[in-house]
Amino acid sequence: MRIVTLGDLHGRHRKMQVPECDLLCCVGDYGAGRTSFAEMLDFAGWLDQQPARKKVFIAGNHDHCLSERPAPAFDTNVAIRTVHRQRYDALIAGIEQYPDIEYLEDRTYNWEGLTIHGMPWSPAFHADYWVFNATEEQMVKHLAKIPTNVNILLTHGPAYGYMDLIPQEYAQPGEDLHKGCRQTLAVIQKRLKKLKLFAFGHIHNADTANRAGSDNYGVRMVRVTNTKSVLFSNAACVDNSYQVVNPSPMIIHL
Ligand SMILES: [Fe+2]
Repeated sequence: MRIVTLGDLHGRHRKMQVPECDLLCCVGDYGAGRTSFAEMLDFAGWLDQQPARKKVFIAGNHDHCLSERPAPAFDTNVAIRTVHRQRYDALIAGIEQYPDIEYLEDRTYNWEGLTIHGMPWSPAFHADYWVFNATEEQMVKHLAKIPTNVNILLTHGPAYGYMDLIPQEYAQPGEDLHKGCRQTLAVIQKRLKKLKLFAFGHIHNADTANRAGSDNYGVRMVRVTNTKSVLFSNAACVDNSYQVVNPSPMIIHL
C-alpha cells in the first residue's frame, strides 16, 4: 500500500506534486487564513483530481468552514450561526458527492483491510479565534473515540515530543518548545496496539529564510514503547511564513 500524507497546505495545494499512490491522507488547514467555504470547495475539487485511489481528510484549527459552528469570537448572533450552519451543511453535502473522498471528524473508516481514524482536535491555542480547539479534558474524550485496532491515525496536531517543535525565537524564555499533545502520545503508547502510521501537521517547519528553528517535516520510525514502533509523519507542507517547503511528498509504504 502506497500512502502519501499532506498537511497545512494553507491555500498552496496547487503548488504540490502528489505522486501516484493508493491512499492520500490530508491532515487539515486548507485555507490561507480562516478557511472559507469557497476555499474548501476548491480544495475538494483539487483533491478529487489527485492520483490516489482513495483520499481521506480531516479538519485543522484553520478550517472554520468544517466546524458546525463558527469559532466563539465570530459566533456573535443567531443569524450568523444559522447562515454558517446552512453553508456547512451544503459544504458537507458537496464533499459527499465525491465517491473517492472521505471526510473524517472523530470517525473511523475501514478501507481495503486498513482501519483509519481521523480526529481534527488539537490543544487549545487562541481558542476564541480558531476551531477544533480542545481543553485537555476534551482531548481525552475525543481520543477515546479512536478504536483500539486502528492502523492509521490522522490528527491535526502532533503528539508530545516528536516533530512538534516551534522555533526558539517564537517562544518566551523558558517556554517548552514541544507543542504536541501529551494525551495523544499516551494513547498511542498504551492503547493503540495495531497502529502503523500516525500522520499529523499543525506545527510547521521552521522558516526557510531562518533555519534557526526546527525541522519537523518527514517520516520517522518512533519507538513509542520498548516493544512497539510506529511511523510518525509530520505532513506540514509550508513553513511558518506559509511558503511551500515540501512540494514533492514522499511515498510511505505500508
Ligand atoms: Fe493548524
